Amino acid sequence: MDSYSYKITGGKPLKGDVNISGSKNAVLGILAAAMMIDGTCTLENVPDISDVHVMVKICETLGAKIETELAPEGSVTLHIDPREINTTEATEPDVSKIRASYYLLGALLARSGKASLRMPGGCDFGQRPIDLHLKAFRQMGAKGADYRNLNGGIISLNANPLRGAKIFLDIVSVGATINIMLAAAKAQGNTTIINAAKEPHIVDVANFLNSMGAKIKGAGTDTIKIQGVPVLPGNFTYSIIPDQIEAGTYMIAAAVTNGDVTVHNIIPTHMDPLSSKMREMGYTIEEGDDWVRVSKDPEEAIWSTNVKTAPYPGFPTDLQPQTVVLLCLASGQSKMDEDVWENRYQYIPELTRMGANISIFDHIALINGIEHFYPAQVKATDLRAGAAMVCAALAADGTSYIDGARRIDRGYEKIVDKLRSLGADIEVAGSVGFYEDREA
Ligand code: EPZ
Repeated sequence: MDSYSYKITGGKPLKGDVNISGSKNAVLGILAAAMMIDGTCTLENVPDISDVHVMVKICETLGAKIETELAPEGSVTLHIDPREINTTEATEPDVSKIRASYYLLGALLARSGKASLRMPGGCDFGQRPIDLHLKAFRQMGAKGADYRNLNGGIISLNANPLRGAKIFLDIVSVGATINIMLAAAKAQGNTTIINAAKEPHIVDVANFLNSMGAKIKGAGTDTIKIQGVPVLPGNFTYSIIPDQIEAGTYMIAAAVTNGDVTVHNIIPTHMDPLSSKMREMGYTIEEGDDWVRVSKDPEEAIWSTNVKTAPYPGFPTDLQPQTVVLLCLASGQSKMDEDVWENRYQYIPELTRMGANISIFDHIALINGIEHFYPAQVKATDLRAGAAMVCAALAADGTSYIDGARRIDRGYEKIVDKLRSLGADIEVAGSVGFYEDREA
C-alpha cells in the first residue's frame, strides 16, 4: 500500500512494557561504513524500518552482497560482504529518498578515492545544506567538492590522494562528523575534527569503524582524532545501539495518556535530557540499567516548562514535535526553542486542528496548555511530526486519522504492534485522501 493512514481511537492510558529497536541514525551511518570493509561483517539489532530498506537497496546496487536474517524478537541481522563493489557512483533515484545516503560520499571516497552522489533527500524542515561535508572533503584533498560542480543533481569528487586534515566544524553537525570519520578512516595521515557532534550514534559509528580496524579516538567528545589506515579487514559481528528517539517517543506517548509504561532495551543516560524535563513537569521517571519507567501520580498537576533543542547532550531536536504535544497538556504557558533546524514547526497547523493553542515566533513556539486534544484527520508532515500526531491522537478521546503514515514507518519499527501491546487502539487504514502524500 503506497499511501495509508493510522486510525487511532485514543483516550486510553498506555500500560505495560515495550522494547526499543536499534537506532535508525546509527545504523544508516554504519551501513555506509560497512561499504568500506576489506572483509565481511554481521550487523545485529538492525531496525526493520523503511529508511534501512532503502539504504540496504542502495548498497546492493553498488555491488554489496547483503543477506537479511529475521531475528526472533523482530529485529534484523544483516550479513554484509562489500568486497565486490566495483563502482564509485551512488546515483540511482533511491539515493535521493533518504538523507543518510550522503554518508556514501565519505565511504566511497575512503574506499576508492572517488565518489559520485545524487543529492540526498530526507525530511523537509528548511534548508539542509551539506556545505560542511564538502568543505571538509576539500580540505582532505577532494576535487569537485563544491556545489558549483553539481551536475544534474549529482556531485562528483575525486581525491588523489585523500589526506588527513585538521577540520573545524563551525556548526556542530552530526552528518558532517560521521562523513569525515568515514573518509578519514582510510585517508593518508591523521585527521582531527574540532567541534565534533557528540550524539550517541556518533560514538556507535566510531565503535563500528574501530571494530573494522580503524583508529579513532575521542568520539563522544568535541575533538575526534583519526589515524588513517590502509586496510580495514573487518570480519566481525556488531550490535547497533538502541534508538534514543524511539525510546523518547514511547516515554511521551505514555505520559500524554496518563499511562504507566516501562521502556526496555535502552541506555537510560541517553534519555537524561527528556527524563529531566519530564520530572520537572511532574511525571515520575524511574530508571534501571537498561530501562526507564514513566508514570504519573494522579494527584500531581503537570506543569509547563521551557525547552531548547541543542546538539547532544542537549535536548534532541528529533523529540521536539513529540515534546510540544506533551507541553500542550501542561498547565500554563510553555516555550519551545528550536535551535537546530530552521523550519521544524510545519506540523503545528495539524496539531492546531486537534485543539492545540500554539503561537510561533521564528524558531520559538509559545504553547498554551489545553485540557485535552480533539480527534481529527491530520497529516504526518515528516517522520517525527508524524510520531507527534500519533501521541496527540492517543491522548484524544475519539477516533483520529493520521495520513501519510508511511513517513512514520521510515523510523519506527512495528509501531502499530508495539502500541497495541500497550493497549492502544491503532490500526492501518487507507489514506484519508484529502492530503497530498508527497515524498519527504
Ligand atoms: C541528523 O541530520 C539526523 N539525521 C537528524 O535526524 C537530526 O535531526 C540531526 O542530525 C540533528 O540531530 C540522520 O542522522 C540521518 P546536522 P543531519 O548536520 O546530520 C546545519 C530524524 O528525524 N548544517 O547535525 O543532516 C543544518 O542545516 C532526522 O531522525 C549546515 O549548515 O543534521 C542544521 O541546522 C531528521 N551545513 C544543523 O547544521 C552542513 O553541511 C545540524 O544538522 C550540515 C549541517
